[in-house]
Amino acid sequence: MKGVILAGGTGTRLYPLTRLINKHLLPVGSHPMVCYGIERLRQAGITDILIVIGKQSAGLYADFLGSGDNFGVNLTYRIQDSAGGIAEALELAFGFIPSGERFVVLLGDNLFLDDLTPFVEKFKQQPSGSARVLLKPVDDPRRYGVPVFDTDNPDLIAYIEEKPKKPKSQFSVTGIYMYDDAVFEIIRGISRSDRGELEITDVNNCYAKAGKLEYDVLQLWWGDAGTLESLREAGVYMKGVLP
Ligand code: DAU
Repeated sequence: MKGVILAGGTGTRLYPLTRLINKHLLPVGSHPMVCYGIERLRQAGITDILIVIGKQSAGLYADFLGSGDNFGVNLTYRIQDSAGGIAEALELAFGFIPSGERFVVLLGDNLFLDDLTPFVEKFKQQPSGSARVLLKPVDDPRRYGVPVFDTDNPDLIAYIEEKPKKPKSQFSVTGIYMYDDAVFEIIRGISRSDRGELEITDVNNCYAKAGKLEYDVLQLWWGDAGTLESLREAGVYMKGVLP
């Protein structure tokens, strides 16, 4: 199974830091942020990894990560020219994922302590053409995609609301997604949102609408390091995760 880490975007909420360097290269504990996603995939046995990066700091990624050899993985890079959305970045993995294969997608600013192995194993048992997302209960779901569960089948998500003002559950949809190559057809079928992006929530809602979106709940700490406060918190929790 292959993995994809999405590390494009502009990181505006972390200005002025991210005017100097791309968000996913900022320090979390003793390592650049992107290293933790690589390690979580490697830990789950996923060593063939595509990293989608923006043009900013592209040379630094190559300098620091190189082929991936020092990190026990094999890295491929693709550039997203401008921040057109998470689903647009994911579309760049077309061609990297062999026909009919399943893969794991991580948002590069998502940091977490769970080992992904058991979730990936469950995903392998799902019918082809279905998807799996990982959830986490949070204090303020309004900052995230929020799932609404299927009342007839509690194993399924009925739909996801992106950053709702009145969340219908206490869960966040984390940036840990599992798909097979059918996702590329779905991305081609969605339209840009009001903010001009191809939204991952629209992709996930296509699966949800078809009754094909399953989920698990992370057991340990999770955060997205998109703001200064969450970046600091991540530094505390991720301390010692990497040697
Ligand atoms: O962290 C989980 C949340 O991530 C989910 O709950 C939301 O449903 C999902 O939409 C996303 O929300 P954010 O507002 O936090 O997404 P953000 O724009 O901060 O992008 C998150 C990561 O995705 C970022 O670290 C890099 C990648 N990305 C983002 C964009 C917009 C790209 O690679 N390219 C892009 O164009």
